[in-house]
Amino acid sequence: MSAETASYQPVPGSRKDDAILVVDGVRRAFGGLVAVDVEHIEVPRNKITALIGPNGAGKTTFFNLMTGFDHVDSGVITLDGEDITGTPPHRLAAKGMVRTFQLTKALAKLSTIENMKLGALDQRGEKFWSALIPGTWTKQEREIEARADAILKRFNLTHMRDEFAGTMSGGQRKLLEMARALMTDPRVVMLDEPMAGVNPALAQSLLELIKMLPSEGRTVIFVEHNMDVVQEISDWVIVMAEGRVIAEGTPAEIKSNKAVVDAYLGAHHGEDLSKVELT
Ligand SMILES: Nc1ncnc2c1ncn2[C@@H]1O[C@H](COP(=O)(O)OP(=O)(O)OP(=O)(O)O)[C@@H](O)[C@H]1O
Ligand SMILES: [Mg+2]
Repeated sequence: MSAETASYQPVPGSRKDDAILVVDGVRRAFGGLVAVDVEHIEVPRNKITALIGPNGAGKTTFFNLMTGFDHVDSGVITLDGEDITGTPPHRLAAKGMVRTFQLTKALAKLSTIENMKLGALDQRGEKFWSALIPGTWTKQEREIEARADAILKRFNLTHMRDEFAGTMSGGQRKLLEMARALMTDPRVVMLDEPMAGVNPALAQSLLELIKMLPSEGRTVIFVEHNMDVVQEISDWVIVMAEGRVIAEGTPAEIKSNKAVVDAYLGAHHGEDLSKVELT
């Protein structure tokens, strides 16, 4: 946790003078079920914010709303003061906001490097297939390849460069997914359960890579079930239950927050919260 995050008020909707993403009055219902009803949140810039909450709390729906994969019924979402409500994912990527998925989307029949190049271009919503045909390369495409190679090196995936993504382990594909998200040089990176299905050794390197993002001027928001991961890498935690934000705070504050403990008790009577996979 950085020194500044400790100075934010640990209450739902708390103001942050360095907010990059602001959500106001966002609501989404499915029939009679209100899945998301968030009055106000502000996400601090160049920090790692975890979004947690019990099953069905609305985390994924809220994530979808923020990343343009679902439409709000009402409310406004702003990125650096610009209204991005309802902006489709590829246009959000062009504005510097990208996401990864819980189920990886790497294309099995393409090589790692091809997946990376696709990451650069499909996020911009351009025609990208020509980028895979060497004879048609432009200067821009060569730059993209150089960037891809640099990121692969950092992610320790250089040895997989020319292998089909389909030959990778689940954990390596998670790494590739995050590496690909960085191709657009995003200022906001949204990670949907980045550790799910990743073996402990790879998980540790993934954590280290995530921890580095704020120092490069990137804001991270991630949904996570594992409280150890949340405690280890988050600067700030936002807790949802039944569609609403019920608590915000540093990881330490959240651990001892009564509303949070109560929200989880229904599912985990009498268990030590630190041992519970908070889903
Ligand atoms: N497309 C949909 N149609 C109908 N109901 C939906 C839809 N998507 C989500 N819901 C409902 O909205 C509520 C919130 O679901 P959501 O998936 O956002 O929760 P979650 O916090 O991500 O849960 P989990 O931790 O189990 O992934 C749930 O009651 C869910 O059944
Ligand atoms: Mg979910």
